[in-house]
Amino acid sequence: MSRLQLGVLASGRGSNFQAILQHIQQGKLDASVQVVVSNKSSAGVLEIARNHGIAAIFVSAKQYPDQEQYDQQILSIFEQYQVNFVVLAGYLKMLSPKFVQTYRNRILNIHPALLPSFGGKGMYGIHVHEAVLNYGCKVSGVTVHLVDENYDTGPPVLQRCVPVEDDDTPETLAARVLKVEHEIYSEALQLFAQDRIEIVGRRVKIRPAPKNTD
Ligand code: GRF
Repeated sequence: MSRLQLGVLASGRGSNFQAILQHIQQGKLDASVQVVVSNKSSAGVLEIARNHGIAAIFVSAKQYPDQEQYDQQILSIFEQYQVNFVVLAGYLKMLSPKFVQTYRNRILNIHPALLPSFGGKGMYGIHVHEAVLNYGCKVSGVTVHLVDENYDTGPPVLQRCVPVEDDDTPETLAARVLKVEHEIYSEALQLFAQDRIEIVGRRVKIRPAPKNTD
């Protein structure tokens, strides 16, 4: 069995999830997706999962209005599907402290900018790229980070720059950033799969790749 048994949480179209699936299929990422959970019944991510024969579960916030109870439901599902690592892929709900504690240092999120800039509450989707352009930034980028109890504040695992072009609109910048997201998320996950991550305070250190002894 793969070292990483992923539980995916997502609220939207699921292009990052799809890229992760592709990398698993290509043998570039040593992981299996055990289950996908969404807080939106119409989320594209659920359809992608079902099309790949992966369990796809909608958990309704109406049914579990209390955050703790909502997350408890997800924790039960993840236990049932033997999830040992959590991937947030466009998940727009906050996680409860208990959830974070249960999977401490085993939850990743991807953010379409270079944190700590342009992160936090309200900074999602196109709003991020609008803010980058309104500030006049010359570079933006992608951050894959560990998840803690607050929005976008966990330590970065990988960051990559993406240039801002003079004629960029939020949409063109988003598209350029998204291409990088689709590569970097699997790269970060593979570092965990290969047990190459060492966490020292806020610093996530990457051990060198094991030597090929063939
Ligand atoms: C991505 O831009 C990601 O950085 C952010 O949410 C978006 C999700 O897009 N956290 P998708 O659903 O993976 O296409």
